[in-house]
Amino acid sequence: MAEKESSRERILSLLEQNRGVFVSGEQIAEQLNISRNSVWKAVRALRKEGYKIAAVTNRGYNLTEDNDKLSVQGIRQYLQIPGNACRIQVYEELPSTNLTAKELALQGAPHGTVIIAERQTAGAGRASGSFFSPEGGLYMSLVIRPDDSEKGKNKERFALRAADSAAQAVEEVCGVKAEIQNSGDLLLNGRKICGILTESGGEIETGMIHWLVLGIGIHFSTPADAFPEELKDTDGSIYPGINAEHYIKHPHATRNHLAAAIINRIL
Ligand code: BTN
Repeated sequence: MAEKESSRERILSLLEQNRGVFVSGEQIAEQLNISRNSVWKAVRALRKEGYKIAAVTNRGYNLTEDNDKLSVQGIRQYLQIPGNACRIQVYEELPSTNLTAKELALQGAPHGTVIIAERQTAGAGRASGSFFSPEGGLYMSLVIRPDDSEKGKNKERFALRAADSAAQAVEEVCGVKAEIQNSGDLLLNGRKICGILTESGGEIETGMIHWLVLGIGIHFSTPADAFPEELKDTDGSIYPGINAEHYIKHPHATRNHLAAAIINRIL
C-alpha cells in the first residue's frame, strides 16, 4: 500500500506543479482539506529547509521560478513511469549515493530504488578515484535487478546504456548534445560534465549479476572557477554559473526534471 503523504509533501507537490505561479492559501487549504494555519506552518517549514517560496497578501504562495531544490515531489511531476516503478529518496548530503544504494541493495532493496543527494562528501569515481560533488550538481544512484535474460551481461554494457540515457536526458531537458566516451563519461565542448560508476553484486563462480548500482554524477551548474586545480582544464558544467534569469528563460531546465528524464529512460 502507498504510504500516506504528509501535508508538507502534498503542499510541496502542489507548489511544484504550479512553480512560478501564485496559489492562494485558501485554495491550497481547500484542495488538501486542511486549515489555512496548517498551510502556513508547512510553508514555513519548507522555507526553513531551503525552498524559495514567496508569500504575498491576497495572492498566496509561489514556489519561485529559480527554485531548483531536489525533491521527490519536484521529480515526480516529470515521471512517465508507473508510480510503483521507483522509490526515490532525496538527501541533503551523503558520503556517496552509490554507497547508500549498495547498502540498500545488499539489504534487498527492490529494482527501481533511487538515491539522490544535493552534495556528496566522498563521491566515488572509477578506478578508486573520487568525484567532485559540490552543491549544484546531480548525484544519483539507481538499484537495478536485471531480469534473467540480462543477468549474464557484462556490467560495462549497463554503464554504457546509463551513459546513453543520461546523454538523451541532457539533450531533452537542457537542449545540448553531449558526446559519449567509451568510458561512459559525457563531454560537452570537450569538458567532462558527467561520470558513471557501475557497481554490482552477484555470484563470482557463475558471473551472474544479482544487482547493479548505476551511479551517475552530473556537473549541472557548478561555476567554472569552483573546480579544483586538477579538474580545471578537463571538467565543466552544463550551465557554469547559473542565475535566476536562467530559470525564467528555461523554466524546465532543472535538476529535478533532469533526474526524472534519466529515471524515465533507465527504468
Ligand atoms: C567517474 O567519472 O570516475 C565516475 C563518477 C561517478 C560519480 C557518481 S555521483 C553519483 C554516484 N555516487 C558516487 O559516489 N559516485 C557516483
